Amino acid sequence: MKEHSIARTKPFLRALLGEKEWPPPVWLMRQAGRYLPEYRDVRAKAGGFLDLCYNPELAAEVTLQPIRRYGFDAAILFSDILVVPHALGQTVRFVEGEGPQLPPVRSVSDLAALGGGQADILLPVYEAVRKIRRMLPESCALIGFAGAPWTVATYMVEGGGSRDFQHVKRWAYDDPDGFGQLMDRLVTATTDHLAQQIEAGAEALQIFDSHAGVLPPAEFERWVIAPTERIVTALRAKYPEVPVIGFPRGAGVHYPQYRTRTGVQVVGLDTAVPPRWARQHLGAAQPLQGNLDPIALLVGGRAMTAAVDAICAALGSGPFVFNLGHGIVKETPPENVAALVAHLRGKSAS
Ligand code: CP3
Repeated sequence: MKEHSIARTKPFLRALLGEKEWPPPVWLMRQAGRYLPEYRDVRAKAGGFLDLCYNPELAAEVTLQPIRRYGFDAAILFSDILVVPHALGQTVRFVEGEGPQLPPVRSVSDLAALGGGQADILLPVYEAVRKIRRMLPESCALIGFAGAPWTVATYMVEGGGSRDFQHVKRWAYDDPDGFGQLMDRLVTATTDHLAQQIEAGAEALQIFDSHAGVLPPAEFERWVIAPTERIVTALRAKYPEVPVIGFPRGAGVHYPQYRTRTGVQVVGLDTAVPPRWARQHLGAAQPLQGNLDPIALLVGGRAMTAAVDAICAALGSGPFVFNLGHGIVKETPPENVAALVAHLRGKSAS
């Protein structure tokens, strides 16, 4: 068996391929992270956040922590979407309490000043993938990931997080050909990064487009759909068996055309998408993933279980993977995550 052919014995992979699994397979975005005390211990030992991402032993260890604790159906590689700009030659710093900071790239000459980049810095990431794959429990699948070009470009151009995305939109609207050069570099680098993760043992991929929801329709088409389609088409040609989950957060009414035009096999729903609407408009046979509000998980108790039941009732009639509608927040009590998994696994067939 080739390493990247899909293991149909894993419930998570079966659901991605269109089978209805019950109870639904579950993993959570940002399942490794600061809400876990054992993560905070490793993080303190590693030094900087990027040192942790580029240390195969420690990256593998924090990837596996939530698997040991909760027995999720999938592990997601511990890394970050901003390793791609780093490999393209941009400086990336994670400042405690302030999030990522990058010297902004706002023109074609800024882009040229990055030089050729250094793809070698990502080799430890692929080493981490190989390690994790060897250490995972048999029924647990490994997800590789990358940021979508649009979302990664927002960090590269704004120089970090942003409220109104003024700089990146200004470049994209004023000089679409110049901005398109940045996006072309991101399409190539992201396709390569995802392909290398498959080669190292990733069994499914997720493309995070966390800021897809801030663009008007024509720009959504050009900067969210088109680049994602190029990546998915290239990966499909080489690895037809590996499912890709697209997560276009905030895409709203664009979800159906995002799914059909990009060719992603699975769609991740954000917190705001009504699950019944999604099942109806994306189709009874469409594998869907989502979409509990991370704050309902933080709150726990009946507020959480009622929300979980509503999502399962709406989405569980077809292929479905349970997840949040965005990443776990760091204030989440770890016992609420245990309660969530126990509740899901105790549910009778829908
Ligand atoms: O999901 C997982 O468990 C795998 C690891 C993972 C991280 N980041 C680890 C991380 C994944 C899949 C990501 C994706 C990511 N990174 C996204 C897309 C998903 C989303 O949340 O919208 C984005 C936009 C980023 C960029 C990024 N990385 C930001 C904005 C921040 C700062 C946020 C904060 O809470 O400080 C990070 C840092 C980061 N990435 C942390 C973790 C665990 C926290 C850093 C730390 O431990 O100090």
